[in-house]
Order: sequence, then C-alpha cells, then structure tokens
Amino acid sequence: MTVTVRAPAKVNVQLSVGGARPDGFHDLANVFLAVGLYDEVTVTPADELSVTCVGTDADQVPLDVTNLAARAAIELGRRYGVDPRVHIHIAKDIPVAGGMAGGSADGAAALLACDTLWGTNASRGELLEICAELGSDVPFALVGGAALGLGRGERLKALEVGGTFHWVFASAHRGLSTPAVFREFDRMNEGVRIPEPVASPELLAALAKGDAAALAGAVSNDLQPAALSLFPELSRTLAAGRAAGALAALVSGSGPTTAFLARDPESADAIAGALSASGTCRTVRTASGAAPGATVLAPGATVLVPGATVPAPGAH
Ligand code: C5P
Repeated sequence: MTVTVRAPAKVNVQLSVGGARPDGFHDLANVFLAVGLYDEVTVTPADELSVTCVGTDADQVPLDVTNLAARAAIELGRRYGVDPRVHIHIAKDIPVAGGMAGGSADGAAALLACDTLWGTNASRGELLEICAELGSDVPFALVGGAALGLGRGERLKALEVGGTFHWVFASAHRGLSTPAVFREFDRMNEGVRIPEPVASPELLAALAKGDAAALAGAVSNDLQPAALSLFPELSRTLAAGRAAGALAALVSGSGPTTAFLARDPESADAIAGALSASGTCRTVRTASGAAPGATVLAPGATVLVPGATVPAPGAH
C-alpha cells in the first residue's frame, strides 16, 4: 500500500514581525494564503526510513533526518509506538528555500500520509500539535485556505476568502536562509521599539470580499527590507513585475521568491511573460489562491479531503 498527500505553497499577504523573544523566535501577525503550487509526498512501507526527491531543485533538498518529512514520520511513530520504516518520496514543485514554505508542506504532507498509512488516526488537534513542533509554518500547510497565524505563526485562526486571487511567483537564482533574514531584521531594528504585531483590518476585509485591488493596497511584509538588504537584486524583479501591471509586488515570507498580485488570470499571464523576459529571475509560475491544505490523494479519479469526499476536477 502507498499513500500520496498533496500540500500547498503559501504566500504571506501580511507578515508583521515583533521584537525578538527570549527563545530567539519573533511574535508575528502572519496572514497566510495557500496557493495552487503543490508538492506531493508518497509514503510506502520499507525496511528502513529513507527519503528521495524529484523535481525542480531536488538536488538542494536534504535526504536525511533533517528533512521535515522524515521528522514528521519519526515524531508520529514515536507517539504511537510505530517504527517509522517508510520510504518517503517527494515530488517537488514548490521552490526550495524560497519563502513559500515548501519544506513545511512536505512535513505536513508526510505526517498526514503516515497517519493514513499506519491507521494511527491522530486527531486534528494532535496533528496540528506535531506540525507546530516541526516548524512555524507547518500547521498552515495542513489546514490551507487562509489563516491568521499568531505566536511564532503556528497559532492559527481560519480566515474567510470571498474570491479567487491570481498570483505570479518569480523564483530567484539563489536561496535565502530564514534565520539569516530574521537576524538581519534584528540588526536593522536594533534599538528600535517594535510594536506588538496585529492583523490589518483592511487586509482581512479585502480577503473576505475577494477584492484584489483592496488587498493590493493592504499587503505588507516586515521582512522585506531585511531580505532586500541581503539580496538587493530582488528589487529589480519587483520593479519588473510592477512595470508589467502587478497590483502589488512583494517578497514572499523571508524570500527570495517574489510574489505579484494580478487583477485577473490574463493579467497574471502578461506579468509572468514580462518577468520571464526581464532576465531578473530564474523561473516564473502563476498560481491562484486560496488553495486547500494537505489532502490525501486516492489512486484513481477521486481526491479525498479528510472528512469529506470531493470529486476530482473533470470527474462526475
Ligand atoms: O519555525 P521554523 O523552524 O520554520 O523557523 C526557522 C527560523 O526562522 C527560526 O529558527 C528563527 O530563526 C526564525 N523565526 C523567527 N520567528 C518566527 C518564525 C521563525 O525568528 N516566528
């Protein structure tokens, strides 16, 4: 038996960062939107725990126990007394080290896949708890949609989304380390009194209405100056997307992927074409959101959402 789970990438439409906490993390007001770029993780019983990965940048993905997918299998196994002897295969479509939570998506996907394979039937609450142990962005990859993340981003409150938002994502020629970007944020804000981060009411209203222009006026990312300080060339990519008609252009999370909000799918295609031609980035993708969270894919034409059965696109 094998189980495959698909999990989405995210863009942060708001990322407000507070001061460094004693544990080194930062309190956040983090508005996540899941977008339709996915990694697929397949788990198969095996003699020992192993990880393989195919897809864009697969050579940059660690295949040892530092991989969040392996850590998810080990942690679920530890809690339920199951020896985590599985082969984990990751089909990667989310940019690696890009600020789109690709590693977190793999962690959430592997957790749900092992829970299904082993029949451990962990509660949603326990799965979320394990996700939070794995990393700040992992719980959101499990739930998807849109959510406000408080604390270090792991305490989630689901948000209403009233329409589809069309995005273009440009990946960069190299990655950025999330801890390094937070350290740069701290360096740039030394001696500054940083207010407690709160969600923007305008932004939440724009999401709820599905109003792209209003969302564009409200997006913000406190990590953007730090990412640009470490990777100044990103400002050229942002400028190229703005010039091509993006309603908003911002760094996704800690970067270096840049995100462009488009008016409609046609505009997204035009922005993608202009960014590809600009020579300022490596690959360009379009994706819309909100997208569903980690989902078990059944062999055949049916997509199984935990707790519900939804026909796959094109199925009747
Ligand atoms: O939780 P995660 O392992 O994804 O975080 C990676 C790093 O990003 C942390 O080690 C920390 O340096 C930084 N971080 C932070 N505050 C957060 C989330 C992450 O400082 N809320």
